[in-house]
Amino acid sequence: MNRSPWVDASPQSIPSTLRPSAWLQEILEVSRVGLDLGCGSRSVWDITSAPGSRKLYLLDVNKAAMVSNPSLWGARVCGDIRQLPFGDGTFDTVTANAVLTALSKRSEYVAAFAELNRIVMADGHLYVGDFLYEPTNSAYRLRYLQEERGSFYSESQHPGDISYFAKHWTLEELDSMLDSFDRKKFGTRQAKSRTGHQVTCFEALYVRKR
Ligand SMILES: C[S@@+](CC[C@H](N)C(=O)[O-])C[C@H]1O[C@@H](n2cnc3c(N)ncnc32)[C@H](O)[C@@H]1O
Repeated sequence: MNRSPWVDASPQSIPSTLRPSAWLQEILEVSRVGLDLGCGSRSVWDITSAPGSRKLYLLDVNKAAMVSNPSLWGARVCGDIRQLPFGDGTFDTVTANAVLTALSKRSEYVAAFAELNRIVMADGHLYVGDFLYEPTNSAYRLRYLQEERGSFYSESQHPGDISYFAKHWTLEELDSMLDSFDRKKFGTRQAKSRTGHQVTCFEALYVRKR
């Protein structure tokens, strides 16, 4: 597995564009063993109330980002979504908010999706918040790479900002990669990217088949 370029990004340069819808809170509240993948310094689980007996794990390749926010609640694990240090069916609820977009090469995201199919227990939830592939979007149309649909190079805006390859997803790609799940919810909305481009975000909720 190659080293993720996100390992060395400064916490301040990590973008945080996607805000979950209110319906996610209800799902997270009833979780007993949850995992937030690619949390950076801002976990989507922040919308939940006092954790009670819930166990929550936060995972990111960038240790500095997780450490930079002392109010993040949960056991912090420095690790890579492509090779997760958890057993099969460990979690009843897994969230992946704006992290799959960081996996632009097929070999990277195939590995990550295999892990997602593996770690969620039967009837458990997987929430994916990410960006939709829009071949007609003028900001991205000419930047999408030919060899990998939806992948593009994201340019830095300020000195010190990270530049990275990113990927926008089609719903068909997600559904076919998440073949251990049934999709229960899907919605889109417009947002502004870190670099100010209009972009379509989506939220998808999957339930692990028995
Ligand atoms: C765009 S940020 C999103 C952060 C947070 N989830 C949010 O919504 O604000 C992407 C995060 O994914 C992390 N990341 C990128 N590649 C990763 C990988 N292969 N494994 C785990 N985390 C990764 C980055 O370090 C970064 O914190």
